Amino acid sequence: MDEAQNQVLRQVGPGTPMGELLRRYWHPVAVAQDLDEKHPVRLVRLLSESLVLFRDKLGGVGLMQDKCPHQGTSMLYGFPTKRGLACPSHGWLFETGGFCLGAVMEHIEVRAYTVREQAGLYWAYLGPKPAPALPLDDVLGDDVLGRTDRRRRITVYPQISTNWFAESRYALDPWRLRGHQVPELLGDPGRAVKHVSFSPAEYGISKEIVHTDGSVKREPLLFPTHLRAGPLWLLTPVDATQTQVITIDTVPIEDRGISEGPAAGSAEPPEVVYLQSQERGDDWDPNARCSFYSPWGRALGADADQHETPGLSLLQDLLLRELDRVARGEDPIGVIRDVDHPLVPTE
Ligand code: FES
Repeated sequence: MDEAQNQVLRQVGPGTPMGELLRRYWHPVAVAQDLDEKHPVRLVRLLSESLVLFRDKLGGVGLMQDKCPHQGTSMLYGFPTKRGLACPSHGWLFETGGFCLGAVMEHIEVRAYTVREQAGLYWAYLGPKPAPALPLDDVLGDDVLGRTDRRRRITVYPQISTNWFAESRYALDPWRLRGHQVPELLGDPGRAVKHVSFSPAEYGISKEIVHTDGSVKREPLLFPTHLRAGPLWLLTPVDATQTQVITIDTVPIEDRGISEGPAAGSAEPPEVVYLQSQERGDDWDPNARCSFYSPWGRALGADADQHETPGLSLLQDLLLRELDRVARGEDPIGVIRDVDHPLVPTE
């Protein structure tokens, strides 16, 4: 892959080929419990667009462009009302669908996108309508809370200074730290990695790790930005140089002093953990420590040809194929139209 192709894969703004491909998928933009009455407006940077996520006085949630179309005031400082978000400068009022409701004579509409809440997160869809179904897998679906002894845990990592493609390809690195060069991290020093292979899968790429004791572990990359490696890793493209990493897994409720959990469903709020970039990361998942502290992980965006691997070749071929599909007006891999689709298996 040459530098020109790498540039195509890194650029995620509106109108760019990769930006158009990534706009066919849902992306997490905020922890749901962070958007409350005390903090009803948040700045969101996604796919090179600056947006505000807001909650109006009736609980409706919207995602619209940050700049007011009148004179460019940041809507981050806007006032939620019962009907939408009012600009702090002259009071133009925008409902969650992006229509301006008052204070103007002409029809005004701003960029506004579809938002949904799932698994303790707000998800945004920036592509052409109609929006596809949220691709619920066995971590994001409510089934993960079907057990009464565990609750969902959301871990928000500091934003990482690599582009989304570098992070995705890093996920397919066969020699990534986890369980390979440091098998003690698996809690079993006697178990080392014997073989790693990659193959196309229904929703992306399957990474299969065979250990010396014969055990097999699969880490699927759900195209394009979800990786199941222990937790579910959500790699959100912020822009051409930044990626937001969020993981979701579950933790025992008993450890937190709760004797009885909820019945199946999502009544139990998730535990949310925010990690600081200043931390050394001793408690972090080994995968995250690789990403943040290895120069290999941080620099890949700038020299993406240095480490060709079978997984990377597969990812590149997949990306180029899906770019073509979107250019032809087709849905790319992993876009699901059936809202009642079965859970996408990740294990
Ligand atoms: S700048 Fe927003 S209403 Fe004037």
